[in-house]
Amino acid sequence: MRFYVLTLFPEMVTEGLAHSVIGRALKEGIIELTAVNIRDFAGNKHNSVDDYPYGGGAGMVMQAPPVYNAYLSLKDKISDGCRVVYMTPQGRPFKQSIAEELASEDELVLLCGHYEGIDERVIEEIVTDEISVGDYVLTGGELAAMTVIDAVSRLIPGVLNKEESHIEESFSDSLLEYPQYTRPPEFMGRRVPDVLLGGNHGLVDKWRREKAIERTLKKRPELLEKASLTEDERILVKRLKKEI
Ligand code: ADE
Repeated sequence: MRFYVLTLFPEMVTEGLAHSVIGRALKEGIIELTAVNIRDFAGNKHNSVDDYPYGGGAGMVMQAPPVYNAYLSLKDKISDGCRVVYMTPQGRPFKQSIAEELASEDELVLLCGHYEGIDERVIEEIVTDEISVGDYVLTGGELAAMTVIDAVSRLIPGVLNKEESHIEESFSDSLLEYPQYTRPPEFMGRRVPDVLLGGNHGLVDKWRREKAIERTLKKRPELLEKASLTEDERILVKRLKKEI
């Protein structure tokens, strides 16, 4: 997978993603990341890329030509149908299913806005998708783009090592993860549940599945509606609901 990020702050993206799992995948060449500085395409001696909004109002708007020219600079690297994702609070709410959908692409362009937004005409001209990482307003699209790159990359074969990819995960089956424990066996008077110390893998699996269901019911009950539960598990949910 090749990611291209159009941004005014390229180091924020490249440095932010240079660590841990994604940093390793970049070093190994399993994924590629190119951050294009929109300011390099300002085309004026002051290197300015923003201007006052037509019609008045507060703030500045990113101008269309620098954004378009930054995109054009990628034209010989990307294929014709390459998706161009604008990071904006107005976009589709990002979720695991969208990460899975994007992970099947060979390349993605992510466009990060700043100031009060980007001139609508260049959005109409180049953008194919709009994604929001949540109902709040960030100062720019970079953190949102990094979120998408991280969530998509970890789905690319080879990015997670064998151990990491075996971790059963929140959301993959609409359940939150069960609680985890490691040594010491007692901390501040709290003991690790006996079943995890017993070495009976069947019982451990059963306990973990029940805890995942219980947690999901307590923390994100709306997710349970999408989970595929056995008849016994549905009975468990009914019982837990009475207890809560
Ligand atoms: N840019 C600013 N806020 C954002 C958000 N919530 N999601 C995506 N891009 C953004």
